[in-house]
Amino acid sequence: MTERTLSLVIKVWRQAGPDTPGRFETHRLSNLSSDMSFPEMLDVLNAQLTQEGREPVAFDSDCREGICGMCGAVVDGLPHGPERGGTLCQLHLRHFKDGQTITLEPLRASAFPVVKDLVVDRAAFDRIIQAGGFVSVNTGSAPEANTLPVPQNIAEQAMDAAACIGCGACVAACPNAAAMLFVAAKISQLALLPQGQAERKRRAATMIAAMDKEGFGGCGNHRECERVCPKGISIRNIAKMNREYLAAAMR
Ligand code: FES
Repeated sequence: MTERTLSLVIKVWRQAGPDTPGRFETHRLSNLSSDMSFPEMLDVLNAQLTQEGREPVAFDSDCREGICGMCGAVVDGLPHGPERGGTLCQLHLRHFKDGQTITLEPLRASAFPVVKDLVVDRAAFDRIIQAGGFVSVNTGSAPEANTLPVPQNIAEQAMDAAACIGCGACVAACPNAAAMLFVAAKISQLALLPQGQAERKRRAATMIAAMDKEGFGGCGNHRECERVCPKGISIRNIAKMNREYLAAAMR
């Protein structure tokens, strides 16, 4: 697509801290390249704010290649924006019209308190992983792959689940602020592979208990999580998680 320049009106959420009321602030940006990603556009906004002697907008990003899951904000009501199958750092301005007004908010959920502006604390996900999203095998040199044969279709299902980057968009999109797509992806990935069998009998129970303790809601089958997931994680993983949980409870 040919590069073009455009101007945008950005309504961005500003909030000094978790206990401070927030508000929208409006900024006009011009001479933006349609090839810019969202974090690059925020860099331009922050350079402008710094020149004006004002505080830059706090936002998360790291790899800027759709890998790490650090970026994430709600663009016009949708986590990661209106384009499907990508993260905020992969969302380019070419998808917006010259002169368009864009609203930017943090991923909203009570389990993800706002740290500042667009930055939220997603440590609740880390605590869920600590509750069971691991395998207790001695690490060392990688074993010869053929000593652990895994059927191709199972390996592909496991890799599809392992694509979850833990960005939290699923939680922000869900009307119940449920973390079930995230937790289900982690449980499925380990349940499918031989390496995950050692803790399989207790993993679903401990991770779901941790999820509930963090204050995430339950799945209402709205499927908004699947819609906004940048890695296309399927809600079929939630069905698998429920089966794993039932099996753990019956034991
Ligand atoms: S910054 Fe790493 S996925 Fe967006």
